[in-house]
Amino acid sequence: MKRGYTDVLIGLQYGDEGKARVIDKLLQKVNYSIVAKFNAGPNAGHVIEVENKRVILHSVPAGVFYSDKLLYVGSGCVINPEKFLQEISDIEKIGVELKNRLRISSNVSLIQPHHIILDNIQGGFIGTTRNGVGPVYADQAVRAEDKIIKNLKIGSYLSDPEGFRNYVMLNLKNIVEIYKINFEIDVEQFVQVFHDSVLQLREYVEYDPFFLDKLVGLEKNILFEGANSCMLDVVYGVTPFTTSSRTIAAAAYTGGDISLKHHNKIIGVAKAIMSRVGNGPFISEYGGRKSEEYCGEDAGKKYIKEVEEQSYNVEELLKSGDLFKIGIALRILGNEYGSTTKRPRRLGIFDLVLLKQSCRLNAVDEIYINKIDCLYELSKTSLSGIPIVTSYVLNGKLIDYVPTTSEDMYNARPVIEYWPHISDVSSAKTYEELSVEVKYFIKTLQERICVKIAGIGVGPEREQFIEIIE
Ligand code: IMO
Ligand code: MG
Repeated sequence: MKRGYTDVLIGLQYGDEGKARVIDKLLQKVNYSIVAKFNAGPNAGHVIEVENKRVILHSVPAGVFYSDKLLYVGSGCVINPEKFLQEISDIEKIGVELKNRLRISSNVSLIQPHHIILDNIQGGFIGTTRNGVGPVYADQAVRAEDKIIKNLKIGSYLSDPEGFRNYVMLNLKNIVEIYKINFEIDVEQFVQVFHDSVLQLREYVEYDPFFLDKLVGLEKNILFEGANSCMLDVVYGVTPFTTSSRTIAAAAYTGGDISLKHHNKIIGVAKAIMSRVGNGPFISEYGGRKSEEYCGEDAGKKYIKEVEEQSYNVEELLKSGDLFKIGIALRILGNEYGSTTKRPRRLGIFDLVLLKQSCRLNAVDEIYINKIDCLYELSKTSLSGIPIVTSYVLNGKLIDYVPTTSEDMYNARPVIEYWPHISDVSSAKTYEELSVEVKYFIKTLQERICVKIAGIGVGPEREQFIEIIE
């Protein structure tokens, strides 16, 4: 019997690798009918710009600009109903129709007002996005306390709106009482907005657990879009500095509402100048702990894009010979500020230990590398070449894997190799046009990580993307 297949796309580092732009390219060349999400919620964020239209996607799958593609939010995801509605409205405002295209699994859990309050109280140490994502996944496991349901799935909510509205109120009041919160806002109003938003999402809710399965039966292919990336996986990442869902490729088949039997291949996305937002160890960080503190919880809020651009001279920073300052310059040049929180992203040297590990653990079939153009900026520094991390030293020993504890991560020192500097690639259109140094970079990278490099990003624009076909 002929049937369709499923591919899974994931980020291989700490998020923000440019997954959405790779999906955009894949949709042009591969015959996918559906883009589906299987994890996360409003903590994820992609900016998509097409023909001067700009939207920030959080919960709606990438692929919105392809009117013939279905968009599916799988049961492993969590949503904030008010924000979700806003996102739908932002997308429709630029002329993109979502009716009859967007489906939300009835099993998706709702981020309630008390989850957001809890994340604001507890999330500082981790540097969460404060969207209530951790608390809602926690409540998924708690399920209920006494007779009060804590995990509210959208399908159940809509079957008994008044009953569930009451749970939202009780859950909120409970937290207000425990934390002795002096509310200036009207609790009733808070719950009412939540309630009305859930009701407005009714038309998008999909109750059929075989929704994707039936489409694959009709020879339709699915692309699963991972959010938050491999190194932030709640189990596999370094505790507590992770997100709270499973982010590895296999999670597509627990949160994506289809059997792994239909699986075809795994596509990874990485970027040549790495980034991390929020707190936690980052072995190859430009400027190490100093950068973590600078971009962290308290200070980070100050250093938004406009402030950094006005405060520094990029050329001077690049020539400073100081990795911390080079990091700031690369952030300004690469526009590396959070699309969800606007925080400055911490930048890091391209780390092959980490990349190789993510590829191997997920058995990635092919990868795309974004931000190759940013490597050119390094030729303006006094560094003798492009720095590349090839192993770590931990307690005097050379290791070839990412340590599993936060303490070891902080203690590990990167071993750095220098590859030849590259020229400006931003105007290149084909692989043939690339310079010898860029080809050397790609070829050497491919040999070291043992995975085919299928394409590279050479700038932020849609067409600044080169496919590598052999
Ligand atoms: P995309 O899909 C980068 C990080 C947060 C924080 C930690 C926990 O855009 O790649 P959470 O709000 O999830 O409880 O925060 O995880 N984080 C991300 N970092 N990109 C993301 O998603 C992220 N989603 C969560 O910054 O350190
Ligand atoms: Mg992002």
